[in-house]
Amino acid sequence: MRKLVAGNWKMNGLMADGVARARDLAARAKAKPLACEIVLCPPATLLVPVAQAIAGSGLGLGGQDCHTAAAGPHTGDIGAPMLKDAGCSYVILGHSERRQDHKESDAIVRAKAVAAVAAGLCAIVCVGETAAERASGRTEATVVRELQNSLPPKLSAAALVVAYEPVWAIGSGRTPTAQDVGSVHARIRETLRDLAADAAAVRILYGGSVKPANARDLAAVANVDGFLVGGASLNGDEFWSIAAACG
Ligand code: PGA
Repeated sequence: MRKLVAGNWKMNGLMADGVARARDLAARAKAKPLACEIVLCPPATLLVPVAQAIAGSGLGLGGQDCHTAAAGPHTGDIGAPMLKDAGCSYVILGHSERRQDHKESDAIVRAKAVAAVAAGLCAIVCVGETAAERASGRTEATVVRELQNSLPPKLSAAALVVAYEPVWAIGSGRTPTAQDVGSVHARIRETLRDLAADAAAVRILYGGSVKPANARDLAAVANVDGFLVGGASLNGDEFWSIAAACG
């Protein structure tokens, strides 16, 4: 399966530095394409200029969230068709920062995923346990519950990517061991079998403090089909080196 590496820029980047980073990555992709698929997820204000900067490079574009509705009276929100219109083929949904900051429930994440798929986007749905859930031995139960409740019905690998992101690993510099990542990803694969006919083809990304120093080891773990990269995606050299670790 072709691995996927998505860069989640979060709420970072003004026009000049965001476009410069996108141009730099596009130039690298044109000069020496990597085997993996690479997607940039800049803030909404940069979607269109980044789309222009990466045109013809083979790099893809993704949003960081969408509303459950396609359009309407929702001040400050973005509908999935708008992301598609701006050039996106992916959207990150249910990131723990949105689950925490905006009180997004599994049901909301599921409705967003339905909206994303209806608009022709591939939903990158994030799941992951908190430090307290891990400490009390509830890692896999949490992840399975989030999958069962956040994923839309009628799934296909073309329209769904799962990102396993332990909340305590995000931005902390700490990661689970390769063995722990392997067991959670295996459990996710098993859970997907009940939910998607082509479960074996659904890509399962790992996210949380992925760096050039740990990317190769994590990429070698069974059922790790790529990465969702936050902090390191803001540095062209680091992001490219992580993507190169995925082949
Ligand atoms: P991090 O973030 O790589 O900075 O830990 C990952 C994410 O939140 O997607």
